[in-house]
Amino acid sequence: MEKTKKILYSAVQPTNNLTIGNYLGAIKNWVALQDEYDCFYAIANMHAITVRQNPAELRQKTLALLALYIACGVDPEKCTLYLQSHVPCHAELAWVLNTFTYVGEMERMTQFKDKSSKHADNINMGLMDYPVLMAADILLYQADVVPVGIDQRQHLEITRDIANRFNNIYSPTFTVPEAVYQKVGAKINDLQEPLKKMSKSGENPNGAIFMTDDRDTILRKFKRAVTDSEMLVKYDPENKPGVSNLLSIYSVFSEKTIQQAEADFEGKGYGDFKLAVGEVVADKLAPIQAEQARLLADKKYLDSVLLKGGEAAYKAARRTLSKVYKKIGFYQL
Ligand code: TYM
Repeated sequence: MEKTKKILYSAVQPTNNLTIGNYLGAIKNWVALQDEYDCFYAIANMHAITVRQNPAELRQKTLALLALYIACGVDPEKCTLYLQSHVPCHAELAWVLNTFTYVGEMERMTQFKDKSSKHADNINMGLMDYPVLMAADILLYQADVVPVGIDQRQHLEITRDIANRFNNIYSPTFTVPEAVYQKVGAKINDLQEPLKKMSKSGENPNGAIFMTDDRDTILRKFKRAVTDSEMLVKYDPENKPGVSNLLSIYSVFSEKTIQQAEADFEGKGYGDFKLAVGEVVADKLAPIQAEQARLLADKKYLDSVLLKGGEAAYKAARRTLSKVYKKIGFYQL
């Protein structure tokens, strides 16, 4: 069959609770792009174990994340949804790509440095090798585009470097992927420390809105969000990081531009503003949460999605891996 659509690849780790940062930076964009591209969306459980996980929880969070993808609007009939560990080609290609990646490059990765300081007792090889596995994910599917949040920029750059390096040594083998960032929402910041990224694993749970938070919790966290003393709802990330972050959240959840969002709060105080942001978020999350719960009760259906997705992903991945093995001289039967 002729390739008509370009290929899109992305993934999320099934760790901790997802935040609205993950939703706005990645999953919401996946839904918007699923008709235009041939999409592969993975659950990155092999990345997850680079930090110690509770096995029962990891299993549970895997299904919860799949249910969340679908509840957010990712359509398993249109996209390939699968679990990374179900496709052994990821580990196989990562091994090959390791030999095209320098130790110094991995040591310089910001996320590696951050996670090493957070998990000083477990700076394992997998943590360091994380970006190579991510490159393998993307390159296996010959992805043209990768929609992610800004925090993944460095990983996307190294993926491109590795692809180019391989292509230059052997002849074009991998598509060199482009990262795609949301105009608004590519970096949602912490509500308590608005200069820092909102994170699933942040220390202060009041700084993050989790996809599972109920209405009261959401309203309370927004009420406590850090702003400034100016009493002016204006988008100015440098001088007003707290207010600008809230405006971004409001803008994407209400599908309005930043200018329209600012206009909504002209002459209004921060109390009204924060309440309105909380309400729009709570209104949007409630149906997603209900749908996620409904899907989670139907394990048979979720398993069938993973089975079908895993088979389709394997087929695509294996094709690339065979090409790679041939180029590097692995004798094949
Ligand atoms: P993860 O699980 O940390 O995050 C999932 C996605 O959410 C985005 N994101 C954010 N976007 C905006 N604001 C935030 N505060 C915010 N926090 C997180 C991330 O940029 C990401 O897009 N390594 C990846 C998972 C992965 C992957 C891949 C992604 C594995 N293989 C291949 C793309 C392609 C990760 O840990 O994402």
